[in-house]
Amino acid sequence: MAETSTETATVQEVDRKVHLHPFTSAAEHADGVPRLMVEGSGIHVRDNGGKQYLDAMAGLWCVNVGYGRDEIVDAVSDQARRLPYYHTFLSMTNEPAARLAERLISLAPGHMSKVFFGSSGSDTNDTQVKIVWYYHNVLGKPEKKKIIARQRGYHGSTLAGASMSGMPHMHDPFDLPLDRFIHVDAPHYWRHAPKGLTELEYSASLATNLEECILRHGPETIGAFIAEPVQGAAGVIPPPEGYFQAIVPILRKYEILFIVDEVICGFGRLGEWWGSQVYGLEPDLMSTAKGLTSGYVPMSACLISDRVWKVLRQGSSQYGAFAHGYTYSGHPVAAAAALANLDIIEGEGLVENAAKVGAYLQKSLREAFVDHPLVGEVRGVGLIAGIELVRDKESKEPFDPSLAVARRLHELLMGEGLICRAMFESLGFSPPLILSNENVDSIVEMFSKGLKKLTAEVGGARG
Ligand SMILES: Cc1ncc(COP(=O)(O)O)c(C=O)c1O
Repeated sequence: MAETSTETATVQEVDRKVHLHPFTSAAEHADGVPRLMVEGSGIHVRDNGGKQYLDAMAGLWCVNVGYGRDEIVDAVSDQARRLPYYHTFLSMTNEPAARLAERLISLAPGHMSKVFFGSSGSDTNDTQVKIVWYYHNVLGKPEKKKIIARQRGYHGSTLAGASMSGMPHMHDPFDLPLDRFIHVDAPHYWRHAPKGLTELEYSASLATNLEECILRHGPETIGAFIAEPVQGAAGVIPPPEGYFQAIVPILRKYEILFIVDEVICGFGRLGEWWGSQVYGLEPDLMSTAKGLTSGYVPMSACLISDRVWKVLRQGSSQYGAFAHGYTYSGHPVAAAAALANLDIIEGEGLVENAAKVGAYLQKSLREAFVDHPLVGEVRGVGLIAGIELVRDKESKEPFDPSLAVARRLHELLMGEGLICRAMFESLGFSPPLILSNENVDSIVEMFSKGLKKLTAEVGGARG
């Protein structure tokens, strides 16, 4: 029998020996010292050395109500004591799942009709793909199966989620994307728009490219288009002006379902309940997770519009049971956590707070950093923001990726007690929605210090 070392070794030693981590270099982890977080309260987390960090990423964009909320802990323990588990297959239900589905429908845009539960953003997006395929089969269009996603979009790391994600580093090592997944332009005006184009003109050009792509593949083969309202893991890219207004009519013209991935943007992050509200979207299918439970317990939910639901219902006579689902679909403990979490978001006016403090965050970041020689762009909406680093401000020349400057800045910021997220050449911010203006000032102060250190290391910038 293998020897266990838990009693003598530190947690970090054990971890690096036996734990394969997500989105982590296996070799670096095996040879390094993992960071060990031990507790959290409000917007802060603390490591095993007692160092406190302002978590300006809310974990992985998810701890919307902040750490240490007894209301959620109590709801979880009460439910676990009463009924820790029962499944929702074969028409079984439980009270928290039913109540949560009703609540989500009441919060969602008006045309949403049904909820399908899962445990992660990835599985919810896989469910969406299967719903799209089912939908077109029921309608007698078995060819209409391809899914269009966007470069640098992120939709999870399951087979369909990763196939939809427009991230080459997630494709090459795993022989992805699968067939049937296509990628169109990332909607990043500052980085990709040809000189002289206005945002509206750039949006129109992206819509033209999308239509050309659809026609090239044949509209009869395209089942759905998926988009995040604001691209998160791409480095926080809000759409350029008029983008969705230009894209959506093309989807409608060719009867292509519109999946809106609200996994990051949902539950108040942009200063409205949904990114769809901010950009005036009417999704056929909505993916949610993260802020649904603020990460206290894993849970996700696909919201299904009335239009799609009618076809699913029609499919029963053809296919019998909707043969898709997870052991943990509608998990009662997760649903109880979600209900308590939604009580907090509503009761404390956190969506309104995200709008108010978000406006201050956007203004403060721009004022503090937009003129910095290493900063190419400061962008964001509500309580989500990105700062993109450049080697040459004038020409927008990026740093050599091998220098990993964003990762280096992330490390320097950890030293200052600030957690941001390095993504490509950008640093991301997605703090808990309980943030105050004073907290924003602290973020700016710590970020300034880190950036100053980075500037000293890379020797300033050109331009
Ligand atoms: C927009 C979006 N969709 C889906 C996912 C996948 O969620 P999960 O990691 O819970 O599978 C993420 C995760 O960051 C995301 O940002």
